Amino acid sequence: MEIIVQPDSEQASWLAARLVRKIILEKPQPVIGLATGNTPLLLYKYLIKMHHEEGLDFSRVVTFNLDEYVGLSPDHPASFHNFMWKNLFSQINIKPQNVHIPDGLAPDIQKFCERYEEEIKAAGGIDIQILGLGTNGHIGFNEPSSSLTSRTRIKSLTAQTRKSNAVFFGGEENVPYHAITMGIGTILDARICLLMAFGQKKAKAIAMAVEGPLTAMVPASALQLHPKAIILLDRDAASELKHLDYYQWVYDHKPRWQKF
Ligand code: GLP
Repeated sequence: MEIIVQPDSEQASWLAARLVRKIILEKPQPVIGLATGNTPLLLYKYLIKMHHEEGLDFSRVVTFNLDEYVGLSPDHPASFHNFMWKNLFSQINIKPQNVHIPDGLAPDIQKFCERYEEEIKAAGGIDIQILGLGTNGHIGFNEPSSSLTSRTRIKSLTAQTRKSNAVFFGGEENVPYHAITMGIGTILDARICLLMAFGQKKAKAIAMAVEGPLTAMVPASALQLHPKAIILLDRDAASELKHLDYYQWVYDHKPRWQKF
């Protein structure tokens, strides 16, 4: 794992945007795995800025989102469909047919999930998967105890996750109980995994994921198995890491050709 700590979320997100831009410029058909939540919002803001100011072209880009609530229509204000169109897709030149987000209204969820996996494969696999982190260590909606080899499927949300997301639904009682999520195995198949976490409330989960044991009880710890996992943090999210000095030393001495 490469652990990169930046002074704040603005600078960390700018670095993330540069990495995504590099992949978009290098690949004939870049495939990007996307996440929702507050964490990637600044990254999306910078990608939009790159599109407007430098003409960064998204017409060849294919996207796959991590997850979606079961039972929500795409136009529900709290759906991840709505989030993605509002915060990114409507402001870049992506082709709607290249966007993939799990369908919360799929009549046959299992079949839908199998097809989602096939679509990722048919697109050539994910070049970079953007990830946020739940306060309980989840990635996507892979809650603690998720199989470390799981594929796209339906998951029940924990009480903690439902509580964290209550603000988007006007109360906990309105938060769905289930979601469709890429599995941990699906996520680990991406060629690069970029996990971003900002703020003190993520510090414990980051310490467990990065320096704790590999365990299904902290789904993000599965990134320890990935050959190219980048953990991008602000100072607060990094504050409980025991080997912070080492990670910073490594980053400061990184050869120029490895930087992005
Ligand atoms: C949700 C999403 C995750 C996201 C997490 C953290 O549970 N399913 O993909 O990473 O929330 O959200 P935030 O970035 O708002 O802290």
